[in-house]
Amino acid sequence: MRTQVCIIGGGPSGLLLSQLLHKRGIDTIVLERKTRDYVLARIRAGVLEQGFVNLMREAGVSDRMDRESYVHDGTVMSRNDDHFRIDFTHHTGTPVVVYGQTEVTRDLYDAREAMGGKIIYNTDGVTIHDAKTDAPYVTYTVDGTEFRIDCDYIAGCDGFHGVSRKTIPDNVRTDYEKVYPFGWLGILSETPPVHHELIYANSDNGFALCSMRNANLSRYYVQVPLTDQVEAWSDDRFWTALKSRIPGEFAEQLITGPSIEKSIAPLRSFVTEPMQWGRLFLCGDAAHIVPPTGAKGLNTAASDIHYLYHALVAHYLDGEAEGIDRYSEKALLRIWKAERFSWWMTNLLHQFPDQTDFDRKMQSAELAFLRDNDSAQAVLAENYVGLPY
Ligand code: APR
Ligand code: PHB
Repeated sequence: MRTQVCIIGGGPSGLLLSQLLHKRGIDTIVLERKTRDYVLARIRAGVLEQGFVNLMREAGVSDRMDRESYVHDGTVMSRNDDHFRIDFTHHTGTPVVVYGQTEVTRDLYDAREAMGGKIIYNTDGVTIHDAKTDAPYVTYTVDGTEFRIDCDYIAGCDGFHGVSRKTIPDNVRTDYEKVYPFGWLGILSETPPVHHELIYANSDNGFALCSMRNANLSRYYVQVPLTDQVEAWSDDRFWTALKSRIPGEFAEQLITGPSIEKSIAPLRSFVTEPMQWGRLFLCGDAAHIVPPTGAKGLNTAASDIHYLYHALVAHYLDGEAEGIDRYSEKALLRIWKAERFSWWMTNLLHQFPDQTDFDRKMQSAELAFLRDNDSAQAVLAENYVGLPY
């Protein structure tokens, strides 16, 4: 087989890139090691920057998102019972959109299949060959039969555990990583959200986040020690912990119910440099990971896709090389700013095991300054809604 761009990974990054390129007449093949249903069963975050929304519109995949998403003009932040609101739209003129990543991925799969996009599922042993030449190719097997795809370029959209990043030699690549000493225990419950906007809560009992998917589907998180197992967390224990970490006026009105999904995820910051090697380009989680505190996971994948999409269109349609040559440089500039914001929000809102009383006083003072200072709120708002591409 032959294609112009071989995309490894059928998550949001790979699907969005494939859809955008297809609409500009650029041929792609997506290789996904799982099935569509497996990918769609993953529970992920749900806050979209306007930049991501714009890309989905450009890709022609925004109808259901426009119908079913929620526009949020701000968020609540709290320190024990004290809480305040950050008004995104007042400070930046831009809201965020709340729409589950699972739904984003579902819409992208539907669009790909409606346009006859080539997605090959259940691929094993994907291997990238000759990325540093003008004739790269990818091999893989399906049900034991080996296949080869010759291509012009390879987009590594295969997430943190994929093969693309590891194809760049260790002596070429530099990995930057920070692992946080706690995880997030998240649940989905078919209950109305406790508030119409998100609540990021710092408390003496630890961090909590109140989010949502729709009017009767709530998404809640509490920080837990890395040693905790999800089996040790009954629904009652979860609700009790959540109520002890959000302001009392919200805790009193919290409607609890059985969890329909419950899992613990570790938190890490990670970036690999460079994000390209010859004709291989890394996008999304293949190149970087953020702690979910800043809601940047999907939104950092979006800016990678924005840069690579425009670079490939300029190359194929206008014969320009600058976007291709400078992809990694451009993508990393925005990635590191999102990493910084996610790291800052994580340090601001969580209880760290080795924190001293002085450290906790610094956290309280920073939250008090954020509560009382308009400029500080504007800075948080600008980062949360998404810095320019
Ligand atoms: N071959 C083929 N497909 C692979 C391989 C491989 N060797 N390794 C991984 N994949 C697939 C995975 O099954 C997954 O569907 O690549 C896809 C990668 O998708 P994501 O991990 O969702 O990464 P990305 O598309 O960059 O989306 C980033 O997803 O994980 C969240 O928090 C993250 O919101 C962020 C977003
Ligand atoms: C979510 O809705 O899952 C969510 C929202 C905001 C975050 C993280 C997760 O920062």
